[in-house]
Parts: sequence; C-alpha cells; structure tokens
Amino acid sequence: MAILKIARMGHPVLRQTAAPVADPTGPEIRRLVRDMLETMEDAGGTGLAAPQVHVPQRVVIFFVSGRRAAAEDGVRAADVPLTVLINPEIEALTEETALGPEACLSLPGLVGQVPRWTRIRYRGLTLEGQVLEREAEGFHARVVQHECDHLDGIVYPQRMTDLSLLAFTSEIGRLTEEEAAMAAVAGDDEAGTFEDERAESHG
Ligand code: NI
Repeated sequence: MAILKIARMGHPVLRQTAAPVADPTGPEIRRLVRDMLETMEDAGGTGLAAPQVHVPQRVVIFFVSGRRAAAEDGVRAADVPLTVLINPEIEALTEETALGPEACLSLPGLVGQVPRWTRIRYRGLTLEGQVLEREAEGFHARVVQHECDHLDGIVYPQRMTDLSLLAFTSEIGRLTEEEAAMAAVAGDDEAGTFEDERAESHG
C-alpha cells in the first residue's frame, strides 16, 4: 500500500478524458484501488478519482456516511458503503438541480457552490467485474457526480454558474449574514467541504 501524490488543478492529468479500464479484475487495478483507499483515508476525503492520483483511468471510490449525508441534506440517511466504481456511467433521473457546497483534494483550501442533479442512477463495475447499479439523491448523488466529472477532465469550478460563490474555506467565517444563511440552506457545515473534510475521517 502507498499514499499517492494528489494532482492539483492545472495538472494536465486532471484535464484529460480518462481511459476505460479493460480488465476491472486485474491485479494492477486492485493495487491502484488499494492505494487510492489509503490516499483518501490519509487526506480525509469522501471520494477520490484515479486521475487525481495521476492515473488517467476510469476508477472512482467514495464513502458517504449517513451522518454526513443527513447534515448536508437535512434528512435521515443510511451509510453508503465504501464503493469502488470502475467505468462508471451516470444517468439523470430529474432535470432538477440544486446548489450545494463542494471541495476537492485537487483544489485544497477552496469550497464552491455547485449545481448538481438531485437524483441520478449510476452504474459501474466492481473489482470482481460485477455490475453495480444504484439510485442516489442529494449529497450521495452530488459526490458521485463530482467524482465522475474527474474522469472527463472536469473539476467542480467548471460546473459553477456563479464564481462569486467560490471561496477559501478559511474565509467562510467572514460571510455576511445573508450569505451564511444561504450556505446553511445548502446544508453546509462549518466549511461545507467534502473531499477536504478532515473532521469526518472517511474510510
Ligand atoms: Ni474532486
């Protein structure tokens, strides 16, 4: 196992379209996923995509705790178990989008309000080569959309419709009352981050 170096925004690997994995059950993918899990845990992230560790292949991992999802969405939620998705695909189940806070290990220290579909279906392959398909909403759906965007060379500011809502987490305390209320509505916790959040050390 190894903790891998995380690419930061501007690195070409984060701008390219990642290649499909030919054999999800291969030993090199198993090794990659092991290292990604260790890297995500070390960084305190909720999710991680292979391009973020300089591997341009279509692999993402994430874990959404029910407590975290409840804090973001304001409704009770079960844990989404630690998930490995290979060659994932997303289908929107609604045209409705919602703004919510996102952070990214590739943009350390920043948080932005990003519009995402509120309900999706996603499918991909597991490390055993089996099809995994789920429906997701709210924070769970947001995490999956964020991670899968990395596979298409997209980081979250490219999805933002109002760049005035991109901020350093260290400045969040300076929000006006009105902005703080908006952030609270978005289901924000202190910094509103997810990949960056160390308070909840996701596995
Ligand atoms: Ni990210």
